[in-house]
Amino acid sequence: MSHYLNHPLGMAPTTSTAFLLSSSTPSISPASSSTTFPFNFIFPAKALSTVNFSANPLHAVSAATSGKDHVLGRRGLVLSLTATLPLLLPFYECTAAKAAEEYELMKEEIRKVVTKGKAAGVLRLVFHDAGTFQIDDNSGGMDGSIVYELDRRENKGLKSPFKILEKAKSEVDAVNPVSWADMIAVAGAEAVSICGGPTIQVPLGRLDAKEPDPEGKLPEETLDAFGLKQSFQTKGLSTQELVALSGAHTIGNKGFGNPTVFDNTYFKILLDKPSSGSMIGLPSDRALAKDDECLSWITKYAEDQNTFFEDFKTAYLKLVNSGARWKSL
Ligand code: HEM
Repeated sequence: MSHYLNHPLGMAPTTSTAFLLSSSTPSISPASSSTTFPFNFIFPAKALSTVNFSANPLHAVSAATSGKDHVLGRRGLVLSLTATLPLLLPFYECTAAKAAEEYELMKEEIRKVVTKGKAAGVLRLVFHDAGTFQIDDNSGGMDGSIVYELDRRENKGLKSPFKILEKAKSEVDAVNPVSWADMIAVAGAEAVSICGGPTIQVPLGRLDAKEPDPEGKLPEETLDAFGLKQSFQTKGLSTQELVALSGAHTIGNKGFGNPTVFDNTYFKILLDKPSSGSMIGLPSDRALAKDDECLSWITKYAEDQNTFFEDFKTAYLKLVNSGARWKSL
């Protein structure tokens, strides 16, 4: 029977349905180290010898040390795992291979429609879907609800990137239906990469909401740094993540260098011209540069693009997992 899993802190799911896929290595493992699923599989796994198997240390230790009355003990645990592993393997191998294929198809169709010029709008769509998340009551988040919210004032201009993705999604759906939440999460990551930013592989398996998220949860562009920090805190995002994610404004037409190049120019310009007029950036961008805590991150990212890329990637993954409900096996 299908059930829903929810990860309020932006953590990856506890079932193995959400896979972190990496094109640079052939390994596929459950997306979070905090997963309760006790195996790590390294694919491709044509023979048992190519399978990297490890029991979750916490579970193994508790089984082995919990006293005489424990039914299994270490030997029992090993025996039962040895017995079930051959049954589980083909199943997970098959699921992971299917997920990898699904991801490749999504990327392919996205790249057919998302040009450099369209990338900024697509990336903004991610924030406007996921950014409704509220950690206190676990509402909103990356759930595809943006499809019901395009007429909202704060979503002005997002119909066009949505329409572009609709085309890609219909092609993907014809082969293998995907959720809007997954589609948007992957499209945002591809948009970053198309513009020269970091490569980001997002886990798949999000479910779509059937109704719009609560209104008024996205930060207003007129907020000061304190207000922006507070707003991000309600989404489980730190000041550092606020600054790193705001670096997304490096693409688009707000005056941070080349509008189709994802780099650290946003931070360099904020550092050089912190109180520049309304020609450069949004009020919220300029507000960040006036806050000491934010300024230290701006300085770090202005000086070191690699650190920005790494931190953006981590924060992006957290953003696209915020409030997500995941398919179960
Ligand atoms: C910190 C709070 C944020 C505020 C107040 C904010 C607000 C805005 C506003 C008002 C625009 C201009 C829209 C227009 O030109 O019509 C914009 C553009 C954009 N935002 Fe944000 N944003 C924030 C954070 C983010 C985050 C976290 C992301 C993604 C990770 C993001 C991605 C973008 C992108 C890529 C654009 C350019 C869109 C384009 O040129 O088509 N923003 N944002």
